[in-house]
Amino acid sequence: MKIEYIEFNVLGDNRGSLIALEEENEVPFQIKRVYYIFDTQVNVKRGLHAHKELEQLMICINGSCKLSLDDGQTKLEILLDTPSKGIRIRKMIWHEMYEFSQDCILMVLADDFYSESDYIRNYLEFQKAYEMKRDSN
Ligand code: TYD
Repeated sequence: MKIEYIEFNVLGDNRGSLIALEEENEVPFQIKRVYYIFDTQVNVKRGLHAHKELEQLMICINGSCKLSLDDGQTKLEILLDTPSKGIRIRKMIWHEMYEFSQDCILMVLADDFYSESDYIRNYLEFQKAYEMKRDSN
């Protein structure tokens, strides 16, 4: 599995910095939903799921946190600590976020509305789905 970073163009001048994100441009899909995670308590892990179909772009717009990505075969850990980069999270990637700094704001752009039926929240179920996909290829 490779980490899919998307580097954003930082528009800056002597007043400071600005990043603009457009769908199908910096964001590689049509944006149907934006959510953000903030005020996360110490030692909390979030995520702990995969999506059957949803595609997301995760951007740490303030502070820092760690993200682990697992495609069923390999697992990677990434430090998210800049608003100038996004991480693409494709479908069927088990992801967990942890070690949030107190000031962390984690923004996520998604290509569909919230749907609980798109979630796989059980790791064994995720592994089974991965194996079925692998065996059918
Ligand atoms: P949850 O799925 O537990 O967050 P995470 O897995 O990222 O740690 O979401 C917390 C609650 O918010 C849960 O009741 C579902 C709800 N929710 C929405 O209503 N809309 C959304 O877009 C998201 C991401 C969550």
